[in-house]
Amino acid sequence: MSQPPRQLKLGVFFTRFGHHQSAWRQPEAPHAGNPDFAYWAKLALLAEQAKFDTVFIADFVGRSPKALHKQARSDKRYDFEPITFMSALAAITSRIGLVATVNTNFNEPYNVARKFASLDHISGGRAAWNVVSSLQDSAARSFGLDDTLSHAERYERAGEFLDLTRKLWDSWDDGAFDNANPATGQFFDPASAHPVDHTGKYFRSDSLLDVARPLQGYPVLVQAGNSDTGREFAAQYAEMTYASAQRLDVAQEYYRDVKSRLAKYGRAPEDIVITPGLSPIIGRTEEEAREKLQRLQDAVDFSNGVQLGGVDLSAYPLDGPVPDLPETENGKGRLQQLLDRARRDNLTIRQAVLQFSVFRGHNLVVGTASQVADVIEEWFNNEAADGFNLIPPQIPTGFEDFVRDVVPELQRRGLFRTEYTGTTLREHLGLRRPHSQHRLPQLRAA
Ligand SMILES: Cc1cc2nc3c(=O)[nH]c(=O)nc-3n(C[C@H](O)[C@H](O)[C@H](O)COP(=O)(O)O)c2cc1C
Repeated sequence: MSQPPRQLKLGVFFTRFGHHQSAWRQPEAPHAGNPDFAYWAKLALLAEQAKFDTVFIADFVGRSPKALHKQARSDKRYDFEPITFMSALAAITSRIGLVATVNTNFNEPYNVARKFASLDHISGGRAAWNVVSSLQDSAARSFGLDDTLSHAERYERAGEFLDLTRKLWDSWDDGAFDNANPATGQFFDPASAHPVDHTGKYFRSDSLLDVARPLQGYPVLVQAGNSDTGREFAAQYAEMTYASAQRLDVAQEYYRDVKSRLAKYGRAPEDIVITPGLSPIIGRTEEEAREKLQRLQDAVDFSNGVQLGGVDLSAYPLDGPVPDLPETENGKGRLQQLLDRARRDNLTIRQAVLQFSVFRGHNLVVGTASQVADVIEEWFNNEAADGFNLIPPQIPTGFEDFVRDVVPELQRRGLFRTEYTGTTLREHLGLRRPHSQHRLPQLRAA
């Protein structure tokens, strides 16, 4: 039988105003004020109408009470707690995958396992978890933590966190509650329960989950690390990654490297879907697109000093070269990309901020719908991407442009679906449904 043609996977990363830092100040921006679910619901429905695989929101939990005059100049992160939000979206959508971010440093596996199991049932098998372990000082303090973990320890803790959540999801067989018998009074067969007895470096649990095994077995596991440790973590656990690369060769290096690491964990290259970020600015002409970009860049606010890769560079001249930056515990991989690029192109701090920081290392494509589709096609066909995580610089307008102009172009080229063929997110992404760990020995023996 001939294989169906490989098709793009598309997700959209929503923020209220868009990802460019001056998007909220443009005349076409939506109103500020309290987060308005109706506004977000409309965006999610538009994404589903366009047959996207996923909608996604980030979560940088916690907020520093310091330097409020600086914080007061940024629109970022006054929206919804992700699981609550995705549960609400689950009720008004029917096909699109729902990616909620949860940080492993500020949660217990049991809580997270039951929330995602619930979201997966509520949504009919459309839940995904963006597993993050970044640790800002302000976040740690919000939770009363003084001792912050090192980069390696955070990934180690995240690994144990996932091992335990997977055990908890497997603590019930699929369909464990399907044979309740009112006549005999037996609600479930005790043989379908697999108590968890976990004692590790970071967690202990002696329990059974109180929600049935997720419809998808496990929610789809998503990850976005770029460092060596992050890539190894992705190879071991992730089923979709949010890569970041501004050039084809950088994206290819990541793609080939991560896919080649999977074999060590008994996994095949197609067990992970790699979706680099894509920030398109679309115009009817290339010139119009460039003008849109210029308008956004002209409004970038340098009045409060600048940061690159999380390092405060206010003491350096804005139009001088990028100095050597110390290694930080956050975002090691992306910081290196930034420095490589700044050195190669002799960038000043201002240029580096405008080119890199504003788009956070993602691929900025400025042009017509067909030029954007060309870049997508090139990356997709050349081992750089299985799809894209769309990071619209302006929302809703930039996302509406993409749906109206780029999606039909991709469909015309046969690169993207015109209709969903499955119902669960795993089916959309072409990912296997994981067997319970308790079934594996029988399956191997068969
Ligand atoms: C598209 C994208 C989305 C991300 N979303 C979040 C998020 O919601 N919360 C968070 O704490 N970190 C988020 N991160 C950061 C990653 O989880 C990770 O900490 C970062 O890429 C650095 O990983 P590394 O140290 O392995 O390079 C995101 C990264 C990318 C590229």
